[in-house]
Amino acid sequence: MMEDPTHDLHSEFMGKKHEELPPSPPQTEENDSESSEEVDIPLPPPTSMPMEILDVDKKTPDAHVPRDPRLIRLTGVHPFNVEAPLSALFNEGFLTSPELFYVRNHGAVPEVKDEEIPDWEFSVEGLVERPLTLTLRQLVAEYEQITCPVTLVCAGNRRKEQNQVKKSKGFSWGPAGVSTALFTGVAMSELIKKARPRKKAKYVCMEGADELPKGFYGTSVKLNWVMDPNKGMMLSYKMNGEMLRPDHGKPLRAAIPGQIGGRSVKWLKKLIVTAAPSDNWYHINDNRVLPTMVSPEKSVTEPKWWMDERFAIYDLSTNSAVAYPAHEEQVCLVGGPDVYRAKGYAYGGGGRRSKRVELSLDKGRTWRLADIDYPEDRYRDAEQMLYGGRLDMSWRESCFCWCQWALGFPVTELADAKDIVVRAMDESMNVQPRDMYWNVLGMMNNPWYRVTISKEGEYLRFEHPTQPAMMPGGWMERVKKAGGNLTNGQWGEKRAGEEEKLAVEGAKEVPMTKPDLKHEITIDELRKHDNDTDPWFVINDEVYSGTAFLKDHPGGAQSIISAAGLDTTDEFMAIHSETAKAMMPTYHLGTLDSAAKIALSEPQSETASNEPRPTFLKPRSWTKAVLFSKKKISADTLIFTFTLEHEAQTLGLPVGQHLMIRLRDPIDREAIIRPYTPISEMHSQGRLDVLIKLYLSGDMQGKMSKAMHALPIGHGVDFKGPIGKFTYLGNGLCSINGTEKRVKRFVMICGGSGITPIFQVFRAVMRDKSDPTTCTVLNGNRLVEDILCKEDLDALLLGNEDRGEVIHTLTKAPESWTGLRGRINGELVKRHCVRSAQTLVLVCGPEALEKSIHGALKEQGWGDEQILFF
Ligand code: MTE
Repeated sequence: MMEDPTHDLHSEFMGKKHEELPPSPPQTEENDSESSEEVDIPLPPPTSMPMEILDVDKKTPDAHVPRDPRLIRLTGVHPFNVEAPLSALFNEGFLTSPELFYVRNHGAVPEVKDEEIPDWEFSVEGLVERPLTLTLRQLVAEYEQITCPVTLVCAGNRRKEQNQVKKSKGFSWGPAGVSTALFTGVAMSELIKKARPRKKAKYVCMEGADELPKGFYGTSVKLNWVMDPNKGMMLSYKMNGEMLRPDHGKPLRAAIPGQIGGRSVKWLKKLIVTAAPSDNWYHINDNRVLPTMVSPEKSVTEPKWWMDERFAIYDLSTNSAVAYPAHEEQVCLVGGPDVYRAKGYAYGGGGRRSKRVELSLDKGRTWRLADIDYPEDRYRDAEQMLYGGRLDMSWRESCFCWCQWALGFPVTELADAKDIVVRAMDESMNVQPRDMYWNVLGMMNNPWYRVTISKEGEYLRFEHPTQPAMMPGGWMERVKKAGGNLTNGQWGEKRAGEEEKLAVEGAKEVPMTKPDLKHEITIDELRKHDNDTDPWFVINDEVYSGTAFLKDHPGGAQSIISAAGLDTTDEFMAIHSETAKAMMPTYHLGTLDSAAKIALSEPQSETASNEPRPTFLKPRSWTKAVLFSKKKISADTLIFTFTLEHEAQTLGLPVGQHLMIRLRDPIDREAIIRPYTPISEMHSQGRLDVLIKLYLSGDMQGKMSKAMHALPIGHGVDFKGPIGKFTYLGNGLCSINGTEKRVKRFVMICGGSGITPIFQVFRAVMRDKSDPTTCTVLNGNRLVEDILCKEDLDALLLGNEDRGEVIHTLTKAPESWTGLRGRINGELVKRHCVRSAQTLVLVCGPEALEKSIHGALKEQGWGDEQILFF
């Protein structure tokens, strides 16, 4: 036996062919030969490891990960969630090259240098007699190594079809969220056995090294499954004979065959044996099929749905898809072959074999059996060493890989048909359903896969249901646009005189378009309105004019101008009320034509410049700053400090204006966008301080503040701005929607975190000793500890007693409190707000406060032009 089997572990892993690898740890004598060439087993397709960092990745936390440009990005640039084009995936054959293997990353890829691989440490802990901590070097040296083929499938595979019916909370996978590789490593049971689980131990939780907004990624599987050799669960460090690539868990991951990919934790750091399923946020909030009636809204307001372990997904469901005919493939009816061979894939869950694949050309009235090839079975005959692990599947019957099917159709029959549908059945006779089971996370979509056929002259043209991500195309999109109801049991096709009724009702959305307007707008027309006098903007492919609303827009004209010529769907939807949405038909101009949709969805290339930018904020595009620190200043309030792009950079936010912060929901990737006013000094360089109060209720504000709270140090956050209609220019001069106004006195009314914009203006006035403007701040809170920035306010008053005054009032004041008690009301306002032409009232607080103050001021004779709501 070798002295140190891992002496060169990292270099051994870096893509060398298995023949060159030094032998691994103790093996049984009779199997100790590496002779894969002699046996007819499927070996990986040719691979070429990407060496280049793609430009799009260079500005992301994944700037250390080389990637294949063919992969289709499903969630924008970052995090990296991708699938290969279906034909490219299928053409590779049974095994997938690591560069085309789908990727599902919830966050940034942990960076692990090659030289660090052997020392990668992980633990086995929890309800065990002998907790273990071991390195990858020890894992390879001290345990038996095995190799076997495993197909991983994301539970979201084919989700785009669900999103076409009704938007789920998940992003749009096409049918290529599935890939197969030979994984080498150690049976998970070996480690658990060594750690000796205690009584009551029932689950094995896993945790990765990727720190995400809600903690480290983690999940669990059942302990008795881990211990069952038929379930094949393993810890793996090689994929197709080479070290795992960064996106796939380098240097160590779990490979959980037959179950959804979400259980195969990457960058594995911990195995924790427990009595209960994982309480990791991602285990609870992801990878579930909630009952179909749980709408996106209910899933937020009724948390009980997430806590029910019955809805967690483990085994994959039976599924299949057509690879050929490919989407938009054409077959010539004259002069070509008489038979067209349709091909595709199928897989089952929990190790169950796909025993039957059937195709129909008449919408399921009659079916034909396809031929199925099970390449996985060829490994069962080969007992040998492969990539340093023992390949021995002879004793195991479970099927953990996809299979390929094919069936020839006379072209004349295809010409007479409207579609091809395929369904698979597993060995428990679970058959794919005709109809979709829509669910809020859009998981486990597996209805019959349907490819439509249309005759165009001498050609047959085929259309798949969808195209991945935001890519246009597919019969579902076409049918929906033509007004078809995709859930009518006939894929949206209408029967004469039939009453249309949605089986899965779309969310009752406020209509934002003119009902009968059918006007297509080109990208050139839109770009002509990329200006501040007649700005047009786009929401959900519909074009609106902002011109008539520039003056009255509560968010200020600038935010409309900043959106001119752009798709502003995320921002608009995130910050506007139903009332605002209901106003939109008035401004609706038409729909983007298809070329314009594509043009607008492509990232705008910015003029490349290596010059450091002097100011950070850009009004028309998001810029990233990195979270540097979080400082708790009260029980529920934190100051988040971000570092800007370079040390000399200023923020670029005029006094009184706001910026937008955008985070992405970790599960559905939907944007959470809120306006904030930072508390850092306007001229401070290189950093940005934002004060955020945590709202613990489940409302929208809470969603953002909780996401911010959970944000790990080092994560990038998107900022955009400035926005707002008010700017304080100094010396009593204000600008309101571009019109200058001189004031002698500010009355500033605020509550809770509404202090932040007020604070900016107050500080600007107080700091400038030559500014004759006076300020009275009325600040309402519940408890003493709720008063934000109190010390800073007090400090600003020093030496400014003649110009400034800050009055605090508390609704739950302690006995020792000498200030005012109760809410800010009309009475208090009257006492401190003597009406005069050159007084401006600035108000910022909860909606109830703003409403009551507005009412009180109006009653006292203040005009709307004298009151400004932030
Ligand atoms: N493990 C960690 N640590 N972090 C993750 O984001 N994603 C999971 C799983 N393991 C994930 C993870 C999901 S949802 C899937 S589908 C698979 O990894 C995808 O594995 P792949 O990216 O290697 O294809």
